[in-house]
Amino acid sequence: MDKIVISGGKKLYGSISLSGAKNSALPIMAATLLSKEESIIENVPDLRDIQTMIKLLQALGAEVRFQRHTLFVKPAKDLCPKAPYDLVSTMRASVCVLGPLLARMGYGEVSMPGGCVIGARPIDLHLKGFEALGAEIKIRHGYVVARAKKRLKGGEIYLGGAFGSSVLATANVLMAAVLVRGKTTIHCAACEPEITDLAVYLRKMGAKIRGEGSPRIEIEGVSKLRGSRHRIISDRIEGGTYMAAAAMTGGDVLIRQIAPEYQTAMIDKLKQAGVLVDQTKSSIRIRRRKPLKPVDVTTLPYPGFATDLQAQMMALMSITPGISVISEKIYPDRFMHVSELNRMGAKIYLEGARAIVHGVKRLSGAPVMASDLRASAALVIAGLVAEGKTEVHRVYHLDRGYDRLENKLLSVGAEIGREKEEKQGSMNN
Ligand code: EPU
Repeated sequence: MDKIVISGGKKLYGSISLSGAKNSALPIMAATLLSKEESIIENVPDLRDIQTMIKLLQALGAEVRFQRHTLFVKPAKDLCPKAPYDLVSTMRASVCVLGPLLARMGYGEVSMPGGCVIGARPIDLHLKGFEALGAEIKIRHGYVVARAKKRLKGGEIYLGGAFGSSVLATANVLMAAVLVRGKTTIHCAACEPEITDLAVYLRKMGAKIRGEGSPRIEIEGVSKLRGSRHRIISDRIEGGTYMAAAAMTGGDVLIRQIAPEYQTAMIDKLKQAGVLVDQTKSSIRIRRRKPLKPVDVTTLPYPGFATDLQAQMMALMSITPGISVISEKIYPDRFMHVSELNRMGAKIYLEGARAIVHGVKRLSGAPVMASDLRASAALVIAGLVAEGKTEVHRVYHLDRGYDRLENKLLSVGAEIGREKEEKQGSMNN
C-alpha cells in the first residue's frame, strides 16, 4: 500500500487543470446500460471507482474499453441483471445500476450496500422511487431484488428524506423512468450539477426530460434509447479542494477547466475568509494578501455548501485565527478527519454534528490516517502548510476519487510524493 509524504511550507504557484467529475461519470456509466448501442463517454477521470464501475458494467454484460480518459461502452442485448457483492461492497455508487437494469430488463439484483465510514447511508429513497414506478422490491440474502411484474408505469414520486434530497436516488429513479410507460414527476429531486449532466446525456440518448437542476424533474417515458457521445463536466469537488489548498498555502494558483457557476458556495466562503477569488468563464484564480478570517459553514444539498468539501474547509479553518463553526447537515457523523487534524496540532472540538474550530498559528507534520476520500484530501492539504513532514496513510481512499492529486500539487510547487508503506503495522480498522 502507498502513502503520501508531504514536506509542508511551500506556497503554491501556477495552474492546475481539473479532471472530469467522478460523481457525474459513475451514474452516466450506469446509464450507458439503458441502450443496446455503444456510448462514448469522454473526460472520464482515471480513478479506482471508475475501474470498479468498469468491472461492474463488464459483469453485467457490457464490453468496455477505457483509453486516455475516454470510455467506450457497448452493452449486451441481454444484460446479466445481478450486481455482485464483491463489487458493490467496494463502492456504494454501484447501486445506481439498479435503475437501468430495471428499466431495460424488468429485473435487477444489487447487493444491498452497507453503511460506510461517513454514516449510515440508507437506500430507502431509491427503493421508494422504484416502487412508485410499479416495481416490486424484496431484500433477499443481502441483495435488493427489484422486479417489474408488468411494464413499469410513470408516477408522482417524492424523493425528500430526513436530510433533504438524495443525489443517487434521483439519478437512479431518473434512469428507470426514462424507459417506462407514461409520465413521471420527481419532486424534491436533487439539483446537483451531476444530475444535470446525467439528464443531458440521457437526452442525447433520446430521453424526454425537463426540469433537471430544479427540485421538480418531469420525464416522458420512451420505448427505446440509442447510444450516444458525451463529455463529463469537470469535477467541482476536486476544484474546491485545490481552491482550499491554494487559500491555505498562499501563493497564486489558477484553476483551469472549472465551472465557476458550480462553485458559488465555496467562492462565497473563501471571499468571506478574506481570500482573493477572480473568475473567468472557465477558470478561478486564488490568491491571498491578508490574514485569513474565520467563517461559519453549514453543509447543505446543492447549491448549498457541499458536504464533500467540508473536511477541506475544516483544514483551512484550522489555521485561520479565531473561531469557525462547521455544521454538517448531510452526514452528521462525517467527522473522522477531526481527530487526525488534531494530531497535527489543530484545535477542533466536536459538539454533535458541529465542529468548533479554534484556529492555530501552525500545524505540525505527523503521520495520519485517511478514513475516507474527502478526509484524505483534507489531510493532504493540511500537510501542505504543516511544519515538517506529514505522512498520509491508507492512500487508497484518495485514489478512489482524485486523478493524479500529488502530480497536480507537485506541478504548482508542493513538496509531495508517493512512497510504498514499509509495513502495515497494527493500524486498526
Ligand atoms: N439518504 C437517505 N435515503 C436514501 C438515500 C440517501 O436517507 O435512500 C440520505 C443520506 O444518508 C444522506 C442524504 O440522504 O444523509 C444525502 O445522501 P445522498 O443520497 O445525496 O448521497 P449519495 O447520492 O449516496 C452522493 C455522492 C457523495 C456525496 C453525496 C452528497 C456519488 C457517487 N456520491 O452520494 O459523494 O457526499 O452525494 O452530496 O455521487 C464523495 O464523492 O466523496 C461522496 C461521498
